[in-house]
Amino acid sequence: MKLLTVLGSTGSIGTNTLDVVRRGALGANHRYGVYALVAGRNVETLVSQIREFRPKVAVVATSSDLDRLIQSLESAGMPRSQWPELGYGEETRIQASVAPEVDAVISAIVGVNGLTATYEAIRRGKRIGLANKEVLVTCGKLVMDAVKEFGAELVPVDSEHNGAHQCLRAGNRHAVARLILTASGGPFRNTPVEALAKVTPEQALNHPTWRMGNRITIDCATLMNKGFEVIEACWLFGFPPGQVDVVIHPQSTVHAMIEYTDGSVLAQVAATDMRMPIQYALTYPDRLEAPVPKINWAQPRQWDFIPPDFEKFPLLKLAYECQEAGGSATCTLNAADEIAVEAFLEGKIAFPAIHEIVRDTLSRMPLGQPRTVGDVLEIDAQSRVIARELVRARAGAVTA
Ligand SMILES: NC(=O)c1ccc[n+]([C@@H]2O[C@H](COP(=O)([O-])OP(=O)(O)OC[C@H]3O[C@@H](n4cnc5c(N)ncnc54)[C@H](OP(=O)(O)O)[C@@H]3O)[C@@H](O)[C@H]2O)c1
Repeated sequence: MKLLTVLGSTGSIGTNTLDVVRRGALGANHRYGVYALVAGRNVETLVSQIREFRPKVAVVATSSDLDRLIQSLESAGMPRSQWPELGYGEETRIQASVAPEVDAVISAIVGVNGLTATYEAIRRGKRIGLANKEVLVTCGKLVMDAVKEFGAELVPVDSEHNGAHQCLRAGNRHAVARLILTASGGPFRNTPVEALAKVTPEQALNHPTWRMGNRITIDCATLMNKGFEVIEACWLFGFPPGQVDVVIHPQSTVHAMIEYTDGSVLAQVAATDMRMPIQYALTYPDRLEAPVPKINWAQPRQWDFIPPDFEKFPLLKLAYECQEAGGSATCTLNAADEIAVEAFLEGKIAFPAIHEIVRDTLSRMPLGQPRTVGDVLEIDAQSRVIARELVRARAGAVTA
């Protein structure tokens, strides 16, 4: 039995990961038990996961979350002898990820809180199923250098990169001409640009094809998420940004395509269910039966591919520019976007202001060259301060 740590066990990717483990669908060579469940504040879900998966370790975000976890375990009537080791915060997240017993880590905490634990697991040569965007968007060079140095296996869980990972197995890397990432286009694909100023958080959260956490759902509506994916793809597969294309594919069934130099294009196609890429990340290079719907080829279907509108969705363009600029630009891009998305969800700013806050934060932050994860976190924190000031100025202007 292999042992797994799930960073972000209570989230959308985390619960899908546990469903893959629950179904025991991973075959005799890939049977996983749970070493650690790492969550934030959702103590109720964590308690039910503890009862079902009996991890050795369970971690929450803060000491008050830990108090609530203890109370909930008591109220659930679980005998103390059956409790896992409990902890909170960064240090315990790291220990839960680097413990020698751990074979694989699913990295699915949203935001930079999962960064150090993932990085340290890479430095211990673990297999990482990578869902968390921030790891590569903020720290791409450091992470990829560590992957090479410590021989870690970084297998992408994000459906587009997972698709590209699969397509790249068909040919030599030097024979690859381009990577094409598909995007659903989000809920505002057909909304006129003038109407975007009036869209509500509820409309933006209504993703046409995927059910995910709030931040990533808004990032899909602005196409910022696709921009992050371009950045991630550059780091994961060693492409310059100019070799990564984005195409709108509203059916979200083709996840990625690789064009080889002979003009042949290979596409990865699967139903929209994250359990397939999660399972792939856990069993690669093996393929096993997955608990996901299969495509019914007996039914007629249509697939559309439409070029993205960079003017209507300027954050996508900004992502290419930040990756070209290198250094700390993509870290600032991510931090400012997180603050702006939060402000939009709280009704403080309008939808188009997400881009304006990010753009203005980038123009105020000097371009740095982070050498450590600590440097990255420092740049992240500074960028957030600036983005918050910009939000306050705007929210003030709106109220006045
Ligand atoms: N969902 C998808 O289909 C998908 C696809 C590709 C990539 N991703 C990426 O995967 C990551 C997770 O996405 P998601 O959709 O699963 O997000 P989500 O549903 O919002 O879940 C986020 C997880 O992070 C945990 N968390 C938040 N703050 C934390 C903290 N301070 N300390 C420890 N844990 C914390 C949450 O815990 P609590 O809930 O307990 O607070 C939760 O378990 C994101 O980076 C996203 O961009 C997601």
